[in-house]
Amino acid sequence: MFITLEGPEGSGKTTAIESTVQKLKEMGYEIVRTREPGGTPIAEEIRNVILDKKNTAMDPRTEALLYAASRRQHLVEKVWPALKEGKIVICDRYLDSSLAYQGGARDLGIDEVLNINLFATENTWPDLTLLFDITPEEGLKRIAANASREVNRLDLEKLEFHHKVRDSFLLLAKRYPDRFVIIDASKSREKVAKATLDAVLSRLCK
Ligand code: TYD
Repeated sequence: MFITLEGPEGSGKTTAIESTVQKLKEMGYEIVRTREPGGTPIAEEIRNVILDKKNTAMDPRTEALLYAASRRQHLVEKVWPALKEGKIVICDRYLDSSLAYQGGARDLGIDEVLNINLFATENTWPDLTLLFDITPEEGLKRIAANASREVNRLDLEKLEFHHKVRDSFLLLAKRYPDRFVIIDASKSREKVAKATLDAVLSRLCK
């Protein structure tokens, strides 16, 4: 089973999944936790290029291609082998981030970005996508309050960009209702963690 975690900046998706991972391990599942962009040495190198604050000249299509390249390498080296071994792969961000950030917010078009990603992923779709939904105002406030989180090139985009990201994610959830579950990430930590666990367990038991 391939689970992806998506959401705007500061949605708390990484923290929200922790107790679910713990629970799944106790139940005897083998879990691989990973993230995009990155997750393997080559993909991490691509990540550094994409997110470097110095790279303000990066063209939007170059950005989309680099995310897709990093995704491909990560699938080949990490995700596909783990899925083949019957493990549950839980990945922070995947293809929907490209559709929302590059397709929606950068105005490249969701279907154009989907096309390069179908090439990169050979049609590998998640079984379950948890969308941690939060307003950009609230999300960015959380990032500002969290001194340990490094600010990257995309965090520095204007508020309007982050609104487009959120709207695009919500659009994608409507477009792919079978795999998307929306979680209200503005709720308390406990409530968000519980909703996350419920969503994963109900998909596992399907
Ligand atoms: P990261 O520090 O991992 O952010 P987060 O904790 O919010 O996941 O940085 C990843 C950034 O890259 C984030 O701003 C979202 C963006 N991104 C895209 O624009 N397109 C993509 O395809 C992916 C995977 C991420």
